[in-house]
This record gives sequence, C-alpha cells and structure tokens, in this order.
Amino acid sequence: MNFYEVIKKRCSIRSYKPNPVEEEKLNRILEAARMAPSAANRQPICFVIIKDEKTKQQLKRVYDEKWFYTAPIIVCVCSIPEKAWIRSDGRNYADIDAAIAMDHLILAATEEGLATCWVAAFKVSILKSLLKLPPGMEPIAMTPIGYPQDIPEPTYRKPIEDIVKNI
Ligand SMILES: Cc1cc2nc3c(=O)[nH]c(=O)nc-3n(C[C@H](O)[C@H](O)[C@H](O)COP(=O)(O)O)c2cc1C
Repeated sequence: MNFYEVIKKRCSIRSYKPNPVEEEKLNRILEAARMAPSAANRQPICFVIIKDEKTKQQLKRVYDEKWFYTAPIIVCVCSIPEKAWIRSDGRNYADIDAAIAMDHLILAATEEGLATCWVAAFKVSILKSLLKLPPGMEPIAMTPIGYPQDIPEPTYRKPIEDIVKNI
C-alpha cells in the first residue's frame, strides 16, 4: 500500500479475530510510533502494551464495551506533561505529541493489515491505578490491535471547503 492507500484503509474496527499479532509486526508499529515527531523533540510519551488476559478483564471497569476485549492486544498511549515543551502562551504540547505518536502507530498497524480503534472514553483514574502509572503520566488514548472481524462502511467526512480556509 502507498501512504494514501493506508490513510484510506484505516477505519475504526470494533470487532476482532482472536488470532495473535506477530511480535515482528508489533515491533515495527512501535518503531513507527517511536519515530514520531514531538515539540522540541521532548518525546514526553509512554506506550503501555497490554496482552495479559487478567489485566484485560480488569480493564472492563475502565471501558465497558465487549468488542474492545476481542482484540489480543490493547495499547494505551500516555503523555508526561512535565517533560513536554510549553509554548510562550502556556500551552503544554504533551497530549498533542502523544496523539501524533499514536497516529503513527495506528497507521503503521494499518499497513501491517492490522485493525485499530482510537478510544478515549475511558475512566481515567481507574485506568491509572490499574496500569500502575507513575504520578505525572496521563493516559490519553487506547487502541485494540488485532485482525479485523467485520469491516464497517466508511464514515462521513466534511467536504474539503468546510475544513480549509484560504486567505
Ligand atoms: C481522539 C479520539 C477518541 C475516540 N474515542 C472513541 C471511543 O472512546 N470509543 C469509540 O468507539 N470510538 C472512539 N473514537 C473513534 C471515532 O468515533 C472515529 O474515529 C470516527 O467516528 C471516524 O470513524 P473512522 O475512525 O472509522 O474513520 C475516537 C476517535 C478519536 C480520534
């Protein structure tokens, strides 16, 4: 696939086959995430990889959707605001850096024939304690990673003129 084909192919998958993800594929997509740019190259991020069945069961308290747990791997990207670049107006770029790295990971997974789904609607404080995140580490998003069971129809996008302003 070329880059634009990957972009078109990626979609939110909400049902997964139980087949495991090959370790080489996981390593390649994590490497893609590692290569992501970050403001002032601070790299204020951490990926937590969840494969352990017991932890996955416990995660149901955090995000209660059955489909989420059909995938063999769940990845949580965290930001570390105290390590991030801060713009002169005070805006901290940690969460943006985490989102860029997660997008690299998700697009690389697509290239590998794997399915993903951005998830942010989780209970933050329970997740922090379940994953034993140190103070200062903020969970920003999760995604399951696995082979797709059902592929949905493409979702709506606004026309280009609604999102681009030419001046
Ligand atoms: C930051 C972010 C958070 C999201 N959180 C959730 C979520 O908690 N649960 C969910 O089912 N989908 C979630 N989504 C998926 C979006 O609903 C989905 O990307 C959007 O509807 C477009 O569909 P597509 O991904 O198939 O192109 C999230 C997406 C993003 C980018």
